[in-house]
Amino acid sequence: MVQEIRLVPEDLIPRVVGRYSPVVVDRGEGIYVWDIDGNRWTDFTSGIAVTNTGHCHPRVVQAIQEQAGKIIHAQANIFAHEPMMRAAVELTSTLPANLNQVFFTNSGAEAIEGALKLAKIATGRPAVIAFRGAFHGRTHAAMTVTTSRAKVRGHYEPLLPSVYHAPYPYVFRSPYKGPPEDADLHYFAELKQLFDTTVMPDDVAAILMETVLGEGGYIVPPARWVQNVRRLCDEHGILLIMDEIQSGMGRTGKMWGFEHFGVTPDIMTVAKGIASGMPVSAVVSDRAIMDKWAPGSHGGTYGGNAVGTAAALATLQVIEDEGLVDNAARMGRILMDGLRDIQADHPVIGDVRGLGLMVATEFVTEDGGPNAAAAAKVIASCMEQRVLLLTCGTYDQAIRIIPPLTVNEAQIVEFLAVYRRAVAAI
Ligand SMILES: Cc1ncc(COP(=O)(O)O)c(C=O)c1O
Repeated sequence: MVQEIRLVPEDLIPRVVGRYSPVVVDRGEGIYVWDIDGNRWTDFTSGIAVTNTGHCHPRVVQAIQEQAGKIIHAQANIFAHEPMMRAAVELTSTLPANLNQVFFTNSGAEAIEGALKLAKIATGRPAVIAFRGAFHGRTHAAMTVTTSRAKVRGHYEPLLPSVYHAPYPYVFRSPYKGPPEDADLHYFAELKQLFDTTVMPDDVAAILMETVLGEGGYIVPPARWVQNVRRLCDEHGILLIMDEIQSGMGRTGKMWGFEHFGVTPDIMTVAKGIASGMPVSAVVSDRAIMDKWAPGSHGGTYGGNAVGTAAALATLQVIEDEGLVDNAARMGRILMDGLRDIQADHPVIGDVRGLGLMVATEFVTEDGGPNAAAAAKVIASCMEQRVLLLTCGTYDQAIRIIPPLTVNEAQIVEFLAVYRRAVAAI
């Protein structure tokens, strides 16, 4: 007789996994998941900005099922295969002409590792500049360029050498005097100052930028700052890497975050939403840059997995066929308007910001400081109403609102009512 085993997450899964909700999930569909007791939850976390096509989109499920029945592991050093190549075609068709080759990997951090290694090989230079507040992942190189929270990198030193940090333009909390619309110039001056004080520009392989700051607080940079960084890279032969892992795949109401700023990166990293939850990521660049990567100087066993890239292909097609980028822009406007209405009645919300469906509200204390306690209360109160949300920001002072891009107006309106009640209850 098979004995029934009681499954206790705390006994089986290490503490480091730190769960945000009590839900033991059974299945998902669209913006909803169901727990093992049959309760329905609204998932406005999208599995940390991954399920952009909604949970278990039927076309993605079908692509996975069909591919799994043909070949699962078509190792990329041994075989080329159609799902990988077709996913590369579909992905690059959404990108500017200089982003035309795709190196598939398995996670965001791995894509960051690849992008940094590619930049070093392509330029022959050792150093990297990243921005304070950014999150790029948890492997050794990725956590070295990460400064969203000390606990991501703390107690893991020594980290990678020759990594320098400049401030990201968090204009809402700008330390600079003068009009906020000029704050970006101060932030840019601090970046440039690194070349006077800390590192020679011709030692710098890459400047690595989150197009929109994600874990660090959903901060949208001023367009002029992004353009100035691009110009600085061109002046000094530095490659601009844009991390689109959270901001890409239609999340911001454009396919790629950088489209909002009129710039193009030399190297882009993409993950999360690319395959609707299958572990797929990619480094995308120009063939002239990629050609400098000699065979065998980078790689991995699973990158370009057949089932994963079949899911990526289906995801890209669903995003296009269902107009999900436009939907993100439209739903994002309704969401932001609704949140600003709530802010008008509740000054505990100090800032409503974002692009498309990459939106956050920042909570403030009476003297304007970060108010993590308020954010935590709102999260808890939404959870009581079976709506799942995540915080962001160094102090967990902001709540990010990132539903699947398939969300409709009625669902946004329903969410806003829940959120208003939660904020009012603080
Ligand atoms: C912008 C950004 N880069 C990189 C990563 C790391 O991705 P992964 O957790 O898949 O390694 C994340 C994850 O949150 C991210 O938001």
